[in-house]
Amino acid sequence: MAKTEKESGAAGAAAATLEPTDKRPGDTAAAALEIKDTRTGTEYSVPIMTDGVVGDTTIRAMDLRQIKTKPDQFGMMTYDPAFMNTASCKSAITFIDGGKGILRYRGYPIEQLAENATFLEVAWLLRHGELPDKKQYGQWEHDIKYHTYVHENIKSFLQGFRYDAHPMSMLCSTVAALSSFYPDAKNIADPEQRNISIIRLLAKVPTLAAFAYRHVKGMPFIYPDNNLGYVENFLSMVARMSEPKYEANPVFVKTLEVLFILHADHEQNCSTNAVRAVGSSHVDPFSAVAAGIAALFGPLHGGANEQVLRMIKEIGHKKNVPSFIESVKNGSGRLMGFGHRVYKSYDPRAKIVKKLAYEVFEQVGMDTDLEIALELERIALSDDYFVSRKLYPNVDFYTGLIYRSMAFPTDFFTVLFAVARTAGWLAQWEEMLNDKEQKIARPRQIYTGYGERPYKSQIK
Ligand code: ACO
Repeated sequence: MAKTEKESGAAGAAAATLEPTDKRPGDTAAAALEIKDTRTGTEYSVPIMTDGVVGDTTIRAMDLRQIKTKPDQFGMMTYDPAFMNTASCKSAITFIDGGKGILRYRGYPIEQLAENATFLEVAWLLRHGELPDKKQYGQWEHDIKYHTYVHENIKSFLQGFRYDAHPMSMLCSTVAALSSFYPDAKNIADPEQRNISIIRLLAKVPTLAAFAYRHVKGMPFIYPDNNLGYVENFLSMVARMSEPKYEANPVFVKTLEVLFILHADHEQNCSTNAVRAVGSSHVDPFSAVAAGIAALFGPLHGGANEQVLRMIKEIGHKKNVPSFIESVKNGSGRLMGFGHRVYKSYDPRAKIVKKLAYEVFEQVGMDTDLEIALELERIALSDDYFVSRKLYPNVDFYTGLIYRSMAFPTDFFTVLFAVARTAGWLAQWEEMLNDKEQKIARPRQIYTGYGERPYKSQIK
């Protein structure tokens, strides 16, 4: 921090001379924030960083550390529960403008990618920053196809779960277990190891997801078919019965491909932050991704799509929507699938999903609960409680209805999300490792407990 030390006329405090903080690479301090500490009268000049492409302004929290009243003090920290206003990294992967409802991967609008790209193309884009050419794509697809098999012991591992185990618990545990099958994955500084781990995770997460599905159903596991595309192979492992060659419904393939693209990344969301935080300890990527799956499981995050359907079931009929909305407003729960930390206007993914839902319903018939969902949306979007809080449908509002139309069970919805988000987690994990400024994620706290007190046994 370039510090200008001025004597305050009012406080008349003499301030200590502090060394300016070094300028770090990438900083383009165009202006400064002048801060006056009224305790001492000292004034500080904190550089404002404007190196984000859209002119986000930030100051380095560490620059505040030099603000203290005595030299031996720890110095000023920022207090930001839930990271409401803290940038934890610089990232070139995903851009969101929550106010305008914009989402781009590596600069490409989500609408264009959903319309034209494949999921594996997007996975490559997220990781490498550019769209793959034909040769790169062919190799990438080949590598991923040929790593879809999992060790046979994974099957026995899965057999240990009860029939009613939640598939997200199974997916989380089996992905964590993969770390024991690939001990070399811990060599995260080795680009070759990183590469093969990324390919293995992208290839095997769909297999593990499908195996979890089959376990719950009590059906035999279906091995991957390397002749099929990524999405078709996944559907085959989920749904194939006795047919020698599985032929997926092309509408379902297209739909799932689009949904995977929409879910592939979303900058520093809860689960991505978990992957980065756990990965910052330099653990292997299987363990880090398992942490992301655990975070995604929560009902306030990826678990919301499952909760939307449970909520709709509870409402039961369109006529009950107004009273349900009133109960939400009175604080007896949340309208699941509504609201977002970043989007304060319509979630651009929700728009695409709503359109997609109609395409699927055209194929399989209208979902009986669509009426309730539409009524919920209609009332919420015109109710001041939701409007004033800028609560709009998020991506999860309609995905549940689509998944159900495709005959996926409710507790499998978040697994589908996890399969897609693996691409983003891995791109973000690698970006974090390549970022020289990153260290082990270790926040500070404001201690509010007892001061020192002598031990006096309460049991003797
Ligand atoms: N229903 C009713 N009220 C809501 C909702 C909701 N879905 N979401 C937020 N609010 C209210 C809050 O009660 C709060 O009201 P108050 O100011 O009177 O206290 C206000 O809106 C702001 O809410 P916060 O909780 O501060 O918003 P935050 O950014 O922390 O939460 C979240 C975002 C967790 C997504 C929240 O909107 C929510 O719980 N939504 C429902 C769950 C959901 O759909 N999650 C999926 C998110 S998308 C994803 O992860 C893929």
